[in-house]
Amino acid sequence: MSREVVTEKSAPHRIQVVLNREPAAKKQTLYDSMKPLEEPSEESYTHSHYLQVIKELDHLVGLKNVKDFIYEIYALLQINQYRRKAGLKAESQVLHMIFKGNPGTGKTTVARIVGKLLKEMGVLDKGHLIEVERADLVGEYIGHTAQKTREHVKKALGGILFIDEAYSLARGGDKDFGKEAIDTLVKAMEDHKNEFVLILAGYSEEMEYFIQSNPGLPSRFPIQLEFADYTIEELIEIARLMAEEKDYRLSRQAIERLKRHLLKEMNQPFRSFSNARYVRNLIEQSIRYQAVRLMKKPSPTRDDLMLIGPQDLRL
Ligand SMILES: Nc1ncnc2c1ncn2[C@@H]1O[C@H](COP(=O)(O)OP(=O)(O)OP(=O)(O)O)[C@@H](O)[C@H]1O
Ligand SMILES: [Mg+2]
Repeated sequence: MSREVVTEKSAPHRIQVVLNREPAAKKQTLYDSMKPLEEPSEESYTHSHYLQVIKELDHLVGLKNVKDFIYEIYALLQINQYRRKAGLKAESQVLHMIFKGNPGTGKTTVARIVGKLLKEMGVLDKGHLIEVERADLVGEYIGHTAQKTREHVKKALGGILFIDEAYSLARGGDKDFGKEAIDTLVKAMEDHKNEFVLILAGYSEEMEYFIQSNPGLPSRFPIQLEFADYTIEELIEIARLMAEEKDYRLSRQAIERLKRHLLKEMNQPFRSFSNARYVRNLIEQSIRYQAVRLMKKPSPTRDDLMLIGPQDLRL
């Protein structure tokens, strides 16, 4: 199987991996520009693995700003390799990040991809993701929080420590053990510099408040990524992809029905809409309903087995 990476003229930073493509007319592709200038050194990352990660990222719907950012990181690390070879300074940057966004906007999914990417590029040894929340870090007596937090940092060494709803650590003010967790994390960032990447995630406003509430934080998290709510078109595309990945197909009427329902849900005041996660749950539910419907059919065809109709979406 041949593989080629092309860039679109309209979006030169967007990477598309095209499989089974015939050798095309000679044009400068991103793949060409990604080829190391010299023989890869021992410490250089494996190129094909990197492309797999990019493919995974590209598969995600929307998230243009996130994809642009990941390309920036790739470019920086690549150019730094050349700079080192040219005897120039190539200092590493602080890669701790803040992901701001509503539930189901892809924060955990992207954090996993960032982990794999940094591994492929030799920045992290393992690239695994340890996902925790307040309850995992905060203890019940003085000293317990620091101990619990350190344990999780230890597990994350070589990979990513991802703290969901991180703003809740600042919730109780100075007397709260959450503060001890923050202090321990800040110390761990100094002690284990370059050994792990810390990603704090949460709702935009709360995260903004959280970062501003602690003077030591803004400079330690120079990278802040906004995960916007998905548009209706993006949600439908996500639904289509999720069904396709499982060898199902949404009928045109099912899509229409889904669209109407999602528009209503998205515009509900006072209720938080969980974006792609909501769509995933709906698709999984419709797969169960379709199974029950097909049980009544004596011998379902391949098409029957694949098709999700409007009757399977009980909304
Ligand atoms: N852009 C996307 N394209 C396709 N699928 C997506 C996309 N974003 C999210 N998903 C899917 O939606 C689900 C929820 O995503 P994820 O868990 O990454 O969201 P999150 O922002 O971490 O949510 P929360 O804040 O609630 O933890 C996952 O199953 C993920 O695969
Ligand atoms: Mg998450």
